[in-house]
Amino acid sequence: MLGAAVDAALTGPYHRIMALNLADGRKVWLKRAERLTGRMRLQKGDGAKGFARERDGLHILGQAGLPAAPILAEGPDWFVTPDLGPTLRHLMWDHSGDIVPVFAAAGTALARLHLQSYRHGRPAIRDFCWNGADIHFIDLERFSPVKSDPRGLALDLLMFAHSLVADGFRVPDPVPLHNAALTAYRDLAPGIWAQAQTTAAWLRWLTPITRLKSGSRDFRAFGPTLGLFSRDRG
Ligand SMILES: Nc1ncnc2c1ncn2[C@@H]1O[C@H](COP(=O)(O)OP(=O)(O)O)[C@@H](O)[C@H]1O
Ligand SMILES: [Mg+2]
Repeated sequence: MLGAAVDAALTGPYHRIMALNLADGRKVWLKRAERLTGRMRLQKGDGAKGFARERDGLHILGQAGLPAAPILAEGPDWFVTPDLGPTLRHLMWDHSGDIVPVFAAAGTALARLHLQSYRHGRPAIRDFCWNGADIHFIDLERFSPVKSDPRGLALDLLMFAHSLVADGFRVPDPVPLHNAALTAYRDLAPGIWAQAQTTAAWLRWLTPITRLKSGSRDFRAFGPTLGLFSRDRG
């Protein structure tokens, strides 16, 4: 059943990512290697390499018992994952009910990854899914199978915090979500948290530069992100 749906999609027009509704009611996602040409290839790198990195990363993390999207089927340039629910960015922007525990679960999931010395590569909240029970990581295109030192893990944590802040500009009161995610992380991985505080103190030198491009959400988030790691906050 899965095979037939995948075959049909693969012979149809190219889409990098596609939701497939199977005849038995299940929904799955088909992801294919990026087809980049010319200038885009120079800017974004080789699509096949990113694809292989992601697929291998999902396998490695799955085997390590970490919450990455499970691969249901794969071919040389595609794989299928089950529907893992909305992303945390979706939930932050549009939700009903209490999502504070979901953000705490995301902080815990990232800390568990880091305690095994793996970094996600770009743990933005748009690349975490919540299926109602568990968090899963998707989109591991920048994953490295090489274990990281604490400084690399701290940078991963800073990227996570940055995405919480940047996506939070769109909602009235994001602070409880930031706190839930970061407190849960810190409770589980205080050593990496402390390293991130040190890194953040250094990066503070760059804050004036980010004001030059204040229109961009990513730049605007820079200073407030570092503020979350201030030692004065205790
Ligand atoms: N297994 C999945 N479960 C739920 N949503 C998914 C899944 N895989 C992909 N998506 C959705 O598709 C979007 C794009 O997929 P992603 O793997 O992040 O690719 P991209 O590299 O294009 O960002 C995600 O942000 C998410 O909304
Ligand atoms: Mg993505």
